[in-house]
Amino acid sequence: MAQAKSGSDRMEKIVSLCKRRGFVFQSSEIYGGLNGCWDYGPLGTELKRNLKDFWWRRMVRERDDVVGMDGSILMNRQVWVASGHENTFTDPMVDCRNCKSRLRADQLPEKNGRKQCPVCGSFDLTEPRAFNLMFKTYLGATEDDSAITYLRPETAQAIFVQFRNILEISRKKLPFGIAQIGKAFRNEINPRNFIFRSREFEQMELEYFCRPENGLELLEYWLQERLRFYRDIGLSSESLHVHKIPPEECAHYSKGTYDIEFEFPFGIQELEGVAYRTDYDLNQHQKASGKPLDYFDEESKQHFIPHVVEPSAGVDRTALALISAAYDEEVVTDEKGKSETRTVLRFHPRMAPIKCGVFPLLKNNELLVRQAREIVDQLRGELMVFYDETGAIGRRYRRQDEAGTPFGVTVDFDTIGENGPALRDTVTVRHRDSMEQERIAIKELAAFLGERIR
Ligand code: GAP
Repeated sequence: MAQAKSGSDRMEKIVSLCKRRGFVFQSSEIYGGLNGCWDYGPLGTELKRNLKDFWWRRMVRERDDVVGMDGSILMNRQVWVASGHENTFTDPMVDCRNCKSRLRADQLPEKNGRKQCPVCGSFDLTEPRAFNLMFKTYLGATEDDSAITYLRPETAQAIFVQFRNILEISRKKLPFGIAQIGKAFRNEINPRNFIFRSREFEQMELEYFCRPENGLELLEYWLQERLRFYRDIGLSSESLHVHKIPPEECAHYSKGTYDIEFEFPFGIQELEGVAYRTDYDLNQHQKASGKPLDYFDEESKQHFIPHVVEPSAGVDRTALALISAAYDEEVVTDEKGKSETRTVLRFHPRMAPIKCGVFPLLKNNELLVRQAREIVDQLRGELMVFYDETGAIGRRYRRQDEAGTPFGVTVDFDTIGENGPALRDTVTVRHRDSMEQERIAIKELAAFLGERIR
């Protein structure tokens, strides 16, 4: 396995592949881009969709105790006052007096015990001051203080604010959860590492409400569930790390927080936080709104504010983890003895943007093309397929290797019965990782692929 030598080489290759193959582009690229914002191209969009669909399946559809919601991005300003975001959702910022860069004080390199500007190397930095990460905007036509609101910096608050409505209509009993996937916005001082830290991103969050006495046990439960999820989308156990946040570094209301981390090419970094947030959020909103957000326990006939355990994951970070884990280069030798480097994204078939490439061996043979097109029509309703008739078959395989397509189906002269009846109506299925090929009957193709990608 000829892997890129260092993390930054590897990262450069990944970023370049993402652009070349249409996973991720710079936002507003033709105008010079927009720092911290990214657009997903056709393959990146499919990858993110597979990730979000699988999260939803695992966290909502396969469970009796979780329901979904889809909240608005703009909310009443009082939500952000009560949650504490308006006053405390800040990062420490310094200015470099020499080159005028604005920098995050807690991410500065140090030389001889002194913080240094990573842009120009100067030590002439201002004292840190708190910079609020929320994007402020105005609702309606008047730009005064009464119209101020924010783009949400997390999806979680809509869940807390709708807790009572959802409890009533779903008639759930504790413990139960509310899940949501959606956009969040943070005016990061230093967006960096490609899509890892951006200003606009997506979160997948679950607020799992419970009795106070079950909070710590459920924190452990959700940590294990979330690790299982990451393994099931193809991240190896070795690449995943659990960091228990020391109590003195946890938010003041948290009784325990874990970070699930992944070995990115630029280092081990957070993928997801799993936090036991106690009854802090519901309490805050009950106090600020004056509306009851409690739970009535029919057995004990008591009212209390539920506690909550929150697994909160980032879609974009996980997509980057999937691409980083999948990226591979290997030297392969063809039948003529010629060696070349094959770039391949070894996605778990469940996550792969395209599940199956379909290729007629020759594009100028009507029977081959017609049969290949029929296979595309047959599979299309079930899974994402890609039809390609241009170039040598080896080139077409390589193109799909780079896109991470796990299966390639080739329609050849055996398929159309030109070499006798034995292999008629069968195709070659080529496996991306081993490059091995096997013969499958066309009528069994959908089931064969379906059971490998679910
Ligand atoms: N509701 C809790 C919460 O928002 P967080 O640790 O601030 O917690 C949760 O964010 C997850 O959201 C992170 O683990 C990360 O995956 C993702 N995330 C946060 N900020 C991000 C950013 N600037 N860019 C991309 N993803 C981000």
